[in-house]
Amino acid sequence: MLAKYTLPEVTSQPPVAQEPDFLSRRVEAYYRERAVNPVVGGHPLKGRIPGPGDTLLVSNDYLSLSRHPDIVAVQATALQAQGHGVLRSSVFGLGDTPQHRLERDLARHGHSGDALLTQSGWCANTGLLAAIADAHTPVYLDMFAHMSLWEGVQSAGATPRPFRHNSVESLQRLAAKYGPGVVIVDAVYSTNGDVCPLAEMVHVATAAGCVIVVDESHSLGVYGREGEGLVAHLGLDPLVHFRTSSLSKAFAARGGVILGSARNIEYLRYQSRPAIFSSGLLPPEIAGLQATVQVIRREHYRREKVMQNAAYLRHALAALGYEVGTDESQILALVPGPEHQTMRLRDALEARGVFGSVFCDPATPRNRSLIRFTINAGHTREALDHVAAVCGQVRAEVNVAAWPQSRGHAAGTC
Ligand SMILES: Cc1ncc(COP(=O)(O)O)c(C=O)c1O
Repeated sequence: MLAKYTLPEVTSQPPVAQEPDFLSRRVEAYYRERAVNPVVGGHPLKGRIPGPGDTLLVSNDYLSLSRHPDIVAVQATALQAQGHGVLRSSVFGLGDTPQHRLERDLARHGHSGDALLTQSGWCANTGLLAAIADAHTPVYLDMFAHMSLWEGVQSAGATPRPFRHNSVESLQRLAAKYGPGVVIVDAVYSTNGDVCPLAEMVHVATAAGCVIVVDESHSLGVYGREGEGLVAHLGLDPLVHFRTSSLSKAFAARGGVILGSARNIEYLRYQSRPAIFSSGLLPPEIAGLQATVQVIRREHYRREKVMQNAAYLRHALAALGYEVGTDESQILALVPGPEHQTMRLRDALEARGVFGSVFCDPATPRNRSLIRFTINAGHTREALDHVAAVCGQVRAEVNVAAWPQSRGHAAGTC
């Protein structure tokens, strides 16, 4: 018998507006699909709630900055002095505003001409692409590019021409067929931690006369001597037109940024829709980010620690027979494949106090769901040893031998 998927229990519901059929049909389809899930009443995202003593590998705060005393002090001072400031779109901010000073700092940090601060990484990507592509622009995206980049292509009305994940040849073939356009890659892929072969991609894109966009959400702050990101670290900044990043990862804040030439950033400031039609960040957020740039540049040991931690766990899991890839990034994925297998792994890990992030439909196809471990500078050796020990204990229970051999999946979400 099929399991029934039920809504969370609600004791009383306020009256609801009459729904037209097209809405009801869509919502019902969601519940019907979930009802055929073979795990009783389950949703892959609904596991146990973590408690004290559990080991969390779920945060994108890679450098463990979210409680940094210097940053928190600056935020508190700004909040007390200015509250939430003037609530409006930042397009109205003229002169030498704190936002503009932060943008100049972010630009210097990333070795770019200028920077545009955005409300999120999502806004950076969607706003940028809608402003630089249109219905006549072929847009070449890595198949694993983040969902916000796909959304940007859609809002531009452009045609996506996806190429095989990390395949320079696949990009080359498509660009030869469809001509100059926009090439989009993530520097580090958010779901499985793969690192982009950036130098080769940039070489092919340049030869094909394309605009190059690199999403550095998982590399800015983490890669490079001072956290300048992978593009600048590899010396590719003179060749890459735009870099985007969420500031909710290594920068441990809320916001996003677009890096580019002064001329192109000025254009985006007055053409990117989220920059115009959505309110800007608040003074404590901007002040906190200003302090964060300095901390990231100065506290090298955090970058060293997160990379050491990631390498340590990756080697331990590989030695246990898990396919975790060989790229040296701070993201690891265990890919059981079908959702019921991922839920079994989730439950086995959580029962032993280990929590990762479940990625399932719509972030991955149903048969390619996975659990992601994100490693932070603040993880201790004991915590990582515990994770490895638990992964060793659950191997047979979660039937690792039946997992798909390739770690492939679709666009990531967070
Ligand atoms: C690669 C990538 N780009 C963009 C985003 C969106 O960033 P934000 O959460 O700041 O909207 C994320 C994650 O959320 C991401 O992983």
